[in-house]
Amino acid sequence: MNIQALLSEKVSQAMIAVGAPADCEPQVRQSAKAQFGDYQANGIMAVAKKLGQAPRQLAEQVLQHLDLQGIASKVEIAGPGFINIFLERAWLGQQVAAALTAPKLGVASVTPQTIVVDYSAPNVAKEMHVGHLRSTIIGDAAVRTLEFLGHHVIRANHVGDWGTQFGMLIAFLEKQQKEHHEEIALADLEAFYREAKRTYDEDAAFAERARSYVVKLQGGDEYCRKMWRRLVDVTMTQNQHGYDRLNVTLTRDDVMGESLYNDMLPGIVADLKAKGLAVESEGATVVFLDEYKNKEGEPMGVIIQKKDGGYLYTTTDIACAKYRYETLHADRVLYYIDSRQHQHLMQAWTIVRKAGYVPESVPLEHHMFGMMLGKDGRPFKTRSGGTIKLADLLDEAHERALTLIKSKNPDMADDEANRMAEVIGIGAVKYADLSKSRTTDYVFDWDNMLAFDGNTAPYMQYAYTRVLSVFRKAGIDQASLSGDVLVSDDREAALAARLLQFEETITQVARDGTPHVMCAYLYDLAGLFSSFYEHCPILSAEDDNVRQSRLMLASLTAKTLKQGLQTLGIDTVDRM
Ligand code: ARG
Repeated sequence: MNIQALLSEKVSQAMIAVGAPADCEPQVRQSAKAQFGDYQANGIMAVAKKLGQAPRQLAEQVLQHLDLQGIASKVEIAGPGFINIFLERAWLGQQVAAALTAPKLGVASVTPQTIVVDYSAPNVAKEMHVGHLRSTIIGDAAVRTLEFLGHHVIRANHVGDWGTQFGMLIAFLEKQQKEHHEEIALADLEAFYREAKRTYDEDAAFAERARSYVVKLQGGDEYCRKMWRRLVDVTMTQNQHGYDRLNVTLTRDDVMGESLYNDMLPGIVADLKAKGLAVESEGATVVFLDEYKNKEGEPMGVIIQKKDGGYLYTTTDIACAKYRYETLHADRVLYYIDSRQHQHLMQAWTIVRKAGYVPESVPLEHHMFGMMLGKDGRPFKTRSGGTIKLADLLDEAHERALTLIKSKNPDMADDEANRMAEVIGIGAVKYADLSKSRTTDYVFDWDNMLAFDGNTAPYMQYAYTRVLSVFRKAGIDQASLSGDVLVSDDREAALAARLLQFEETITQVARDGTPHVMCAYLYDLAGLFSSFYEHCPILSAEDDNVRQSRLMLASLTAKTLKQGLQTLGIDTVDRM
């Protein structure tokens, strides 16, 4: 049930009936305060201005035509011409009962789109670090949300698996294989990369060999391809452990690395030249963009092919967008990449649009995010200033959660405590990230994220177990509930209305790629359940119908919390 959409439809019908244009915006929003009802329509003022009428008068007329029979108990005009809508409690009850038995909690299916989501995108022969963590977590929440709504989602893990560094890496892998056992050498990818670089800088013969390997690799040489694949394999096997622990849905099949677009690049450069978009400039091939000015106020030149013939990150992203439209038939493409790459993407996409590779009707959206900061407000690093490795971070999350669980449940068996520590610890890391608006930097703080109060994973997971415990205590199976949902107390009404706003919330998250909106919703829902639970006795309710009705409200709360957390990729446990 999408109440906002339903009311928008009704209000705009009434507005049109009194002379508003067919595309008028009713601007129906959830009210900020209970005294303004459940929803407010704010679109009257703008239309009144257009029609040259007094807004309050127009509002009166709209009210005459507004048919909310059975849906609203009261509709009133407020202020300069707002319309406040109070929902009918009987209607709320019917909708809750319907949502309980409907598939997908009553969320309507959408017209499915093919949506490509570019996320995670670690680099080969480098360990995934916390910067990739945000992309992975937020991107996966978007993927789950879109799939829940019924879209066809293509996960695109744009792994950094191509570039001149591979000559050096292949040469070093070869050296390692000769000198040691290769597995040992690759166990620590970060060190492997560092050592390769050092050898390259210090050993001229090695550097020479590395350069020849780049050329060979690009030419499709079998030996170099094999060594390259080995590097990709080892890296992605390691990353897959991280994905699995993080409860992220990416698999090896989702890897669509930079190398995938390599064969397209010469054609793209030739085509951009033929279209008059790219020109030769000092030996390189450059696209000058009027949209972007350099320091001198001249059109900025974006290099797409270097003097030595090499291609750039931008060239690949041009090809990649084209591929996603032409070959994958994307209706929409989302990119979860940090905000520092915004200009890069905008330049690539400006070229993509000018060349006509992706029509304007197919949105290319940069869902950017800020940095992860330490408590000191500086980029999140280890004590010694190194980048924090994902595996270490997750181990620490587990350890901290385990300590917490053991202190609360000293008698719990080790394996159960460990299982819970993984769900709670990793859930906490993910939720901390997801619950903040992604566009800003955020401060990584263990104590906050593991707190059992506030907008945290442990609080949400605990809230869920509390609802379940009602059923456990009473020995009632949720599936056996039936009857009417009777909404009489204010808390029941508030909880019911909020439950029915799940669809509005998830629709917004799908549109904007903002999982923090889901977190805020779930947090609010948990709070409303708490006050309902405190003020409206469930199991001790005297009237059997009331008891049944309250159990139904509790059941939809449990299902909504669980489903909501699931779209975020956060697991629940049955007891804590
Ligand atoms: N591998 C890149 C990095 O680590 C991110 C790639 C993002 N995706 C893209 N289509 N450019 O910075």
